[in-house]
Amino acid sequence: MGLGVHLRFEDMSGTFTDEFRSQFYQLLEARRSIRKFKPDPVPGDVLEKILAAGMQAPSGKNRQNWRFYVLQGKKRDDYLALSQKSWLGIKDILEKRLKPSLYQFTERFFFTLGEAPVVVLCYSHNDAEERYHTSIGSVYMAVENINLSCFAEGLGCCTMGAPIEIREDVDRFIGVDQTEEYKRGELELLCAVVLGYPDHQPPKAPRQIEGRVIHLT
Ligand SMILES: Cc1cc2nc3c(=O)[nH]c(=O)nc-3n(C[C@H](O)[C@H](O)[C@H](O)COP(=O)(O)O)c2cc1C
Repeated sequence: MGLGVHLRFEDMSGTFTDEFRSQFYQLLEARRSIRKFKPDPVPGDVLEKILAAGMQAPSGKNRQNWRFYVLQGKKRDDYLALSQKSWLGIKDILEKRLKPSLYQFTERFFFTLGEAPVVVLCYSHNDAEERYHTSIGSVYMAVENINLSCFAEGLGCCTMGAPIEIREDVDRFIGVDQTEEYKRGELELLCAVVLGYPDHQPPKAPRQIEGRVIHLT
């Protein structure tokens, strides 16, 4: 039974139209990291929708242990100084790995965040109720939902692990270090997602399939 655009999700597993399924897989394939953004602001309701989509993700024991700190305006501008500092921790590795032109592009990205108007700092709340890796993985599930929702909304984003290089600076910058959870050692910065309207169309980063899946019967 094809339900076309009148989708009701509660009990419809296996009932999507071929078109919907095809578009869904196209969305996964077409998403790519964006590192250059238009100055246009992201409307508040769109931003809320994207974050809500993040929180639809599964999580270990349904703890929903993600914490998102959303930087915009002056706070986002001030964050640039930290992004620049994180570059120092990563630039030597990238200098060896990247072509000079890509290295320069990446350096500029770290210095400007591609002019992204929004930076979402993604934390995990870890506690004894859940295994460490399950907590971390749960947050990344939400981050992927955010990546895909950005794309569906015509926005672009880039997930950045680089802020981990300067974790304690970031914790102080947003004041998370003053919370009781943090003092108990339970709050951990995992990544930033910078987002806005895309101002470039990067090529698809190639995917390697070989050797990634091992079937056992
Ligand atoms: C956990 C994680 C950390 C990442 N950290 C960075 C980063 O610090 N800087 C950056 O420019 N891109 C970063 N990326 C983006 C990857 O470089 C990108 O996803 C990868 O090259 C594949 O390209 P695509 O996203 O366009 O498919 C990160 C991605 C993930 C999932």
